[in-house]
Amino acid sequence: MPINSNGAVSSLATSIGEIPPDAIVFGHSEVMQALRQRMDKVASANVPVLIQGESGTGKDIIARMVHGLSPWRTGPYVKVNCPAIPGTLLESELFGYEKGAFTGAYGSKPGRVEMAHRGTLFLDEISELDLALQSKLLQLLQDGQFCRIGAQEDKKVEVRVVCATNRRLEEEIETGTFRQDLYYRINVVNLHMPPLRDRRGDIPDLVEYFLEYYNRKYNCRARMLSGELMNSLQKYRWPGNIRELENLIKRYVILGNEDVISGDLVSHEQEFFNPEINFEVPISLKKITRQATRELERKIILKVLQHHHWNRKQAARTLNISYRALLYKIRDAGLPANRTVRRRPDAVPGSEELAA
Ligand SMILES: Nc1ncnc2c1ncn2[C@@H]1O[C@H](COP(=O)(O)OP(=O)(O)OP(=O)(O)O)[C@@H](O)[C@H]1O
Ligand SMILES: [Mg+2]
Repeated sequence: MPINSNGAVSSLATSIGEIPPDAIVFGHSEVMQALRQRMDKVASANVPVLIQGESGTGKDIIARMVHGLSPWRTGPYVKVNCPAIPGTLLESELFGYEKGAFTGAYGSKPGRVEMAHRGTLFLDEISELDLALQSKLLQLLQDGQFCRIGAQEDKKVEVRVVCATNRRLEEEIETGTFRQDLYYRINVVNLHMPPLRDRRGDIPDLVEYFLEYYNRKYNCRARMLSGELMNSLQKYRWPGNIRELENLIKRYVILGNEDVISGDLVSHEQEFFNPEINFEVPISLKKITRQATRELERKIILKVLQHHHWNRKQAARTLNISYRALLYKIRDAGLPANRTVRRRPDAVPGSEELAA
């Protein structure tokens, strides 16, 4: 798979895995361009980086890119997924232990901090570290020293620490579960990943990329989505961000049916029928209510269309509106005008029937 259009990271694919091309990772939005510039600047300086953002926004990808652009890019890239390691094991996993340090420690073992020497240590979901481990990490960041469990002496290590979280660490500091001094240490540079709903303009390129990628991977020939469906995707809220979009396209490629996508959008949207309120600016109740009403109308229409297998005449009858009014509302809501129907068994690949 193509790794990176500028080639900077491609040669490191073996150590940091697959990364989509830059044009896909950063897209066109201003916020992502700014993030890219910031990342390019800090990657070459050996300072800790904190990547924040909702789940599925690409924190993992950015952490790998930071490593790929760092002076220690040929060194190890060691990722620790903090929530995946039980609290009791996390200390030995991170800092290692000496023989006899605890029952069952028959030999000594280096931790991941040591393994990352002259490379990058990526601590994913850093808020999962308890306060004792936070202190040990603070020591590492302050003097580049740490102590294996059961060791008499500290060890020295040179490592670039990159942390990520989808929580608001500032709130954890207020509640006393995250050390403020550690926060300042890990947050020398902050990269904030915007949610997908704040960069909707990038959705078509992402869709095309995933479509091509999964078509190739699964040896399928799913066609590009209809303009109407693409419109719906651009209006959806994407609580699961790019991961959710990727999974949706993967399902579409495997099942080869646009209904899969429309169905998913409806069922997920029900859970998130929650108007977004920005408390930093004056709120217009009228505007929010109008938006919410439009959203609700859109969902009802989509449900009824699905129920009638996209037969718009029947849907108009059920909704008790005229056919013309329904057509107008479908267009206005950015819903697909037609449903892409299962391929006839005898159909030539690529040919489709439309239901409505
Ligand atoms: N900008 C992007 N371009 C292409 N694919 C992306 C992009 N961002 C994320 N993805 C894809 O979305 C999925 C989720 O990305 P990633 O694991 O980096 O998110 P995350 O922010 O680390 O999520 P979590 O907080 O749940 O760990 C991955 O499969 C990744 O390849
Ligand atoms: Mg992640």
